[in-house]
Amino acid sequence: MDELANKNILITGASRGIGFDLAELLDQKGCNLLLHAGSDLGIQRLKEVFGGSDRHCFWQADFSKPDMLAVTLQETLQFFGPLAGYVNCVGLRVRRPLNLLNVATATEAFVTNVVSHLEVVRIITRKGLFAKGLSIVGISSIASHIGSPGVSIYAATKAAMESANRCLSKELFTKGIRINSIIAGQVNTEAYKELMQSKDSQVDLVLDRQYMGLIEPRGVAAMCVFLLSEQSQYINGSSLPVDGGYLV
Ligand SMILES: NC(=O)c1ccc[n+]([C@@H]2O[C@H](COP(=O)([O-])OP(=O)(O)OC[C@H]3O[C@@H](n4cnc5c(N)ncnc54)[C@H](OP(=O)(O)O)[C@@H]3O)[C@@H](O)[C@H]2O)c1
Repeated sequence: MDELANKNILITGASRGIGFDLAELLDQKGCNLLLHAGSDLGIQRLKEVFGGSDRHCFWQADFSKPDMLAVTLQETLQFFGPLAGYVNCVGLRVRRPLNLLNVATATEAFVTNVVSHLEVVRIITRKGLFAKGLSIVGISSIASHIGSPGVSIYAATKAAMESANRCLSKELFTKGIRINSIIAGQVNTEAYKELMQSKDSQVDLVLDRQYMGLIEPRGVAAMCVFLLSEQSQYINGSSLPVDGGYLV
């Protein structure tokens, strides 16, 4: 039997891309999944694919409104049971040069990508809501480790999440909880395809440096599975790359 079978895992941002592939992978491993999406459409998609199993539950919440998370998540967890894993795949992408940035856009990105992540971590690490050995994973981006024009806010939110996770690893260790980040390179998701279609040129310059090619979402999901498992029991507070060779 798989080590992760029957474990309760929360995936936020599960309706598309990396989160969706992770949900499929963990479903195959026999996990009980609490699957989150932000929109009606996202939840509908999750219910269509995973709703046939009584092992899975669904949670809809808008990460741009962190004040609303505590009540609904706590209620859902009381029904679902203590968590052994949490993977956060929500990420608001902002692509704007400085002259097109404004306070509202920057604030929404920080709230969605950082504040809500911290709020979920705060809630699920309350007594009774997590199981022994809870492992938390946040998906960061190579954008936070390199300097690229037009992504200052997005990159800053990912860097902030990674630093927060590093600090929290020292706090949460005393409860037997681990927390890590994954630095993802360019991943072949719906969001990526939309981005490429919106560009004048179909040539992706990132792939010049990401010499191993575009990463399939399964590649990042596999690293999430490793970090959720006991095989990574000595890894804490780290940012592990799945970057197709970009950063080295
Ligand atoms: N794709 C890449 O190349 C790449 C590279 C590096 C890092 N990443 C990071 O990896 C993570 C996953 O990215 P992805 O491309 O696989 O998926 P994605 O297309 O960015 O969608 C992820 C999920 O986020 C949810 N979401 C978006 N806005 C939300 C909000 N305000 N409140 C609640 N949920 C919200 C979506 O729900 P709905 O479907 O309901 O809207 C969806 O389930 C993100 O953090 C992203 O920044 C991606």
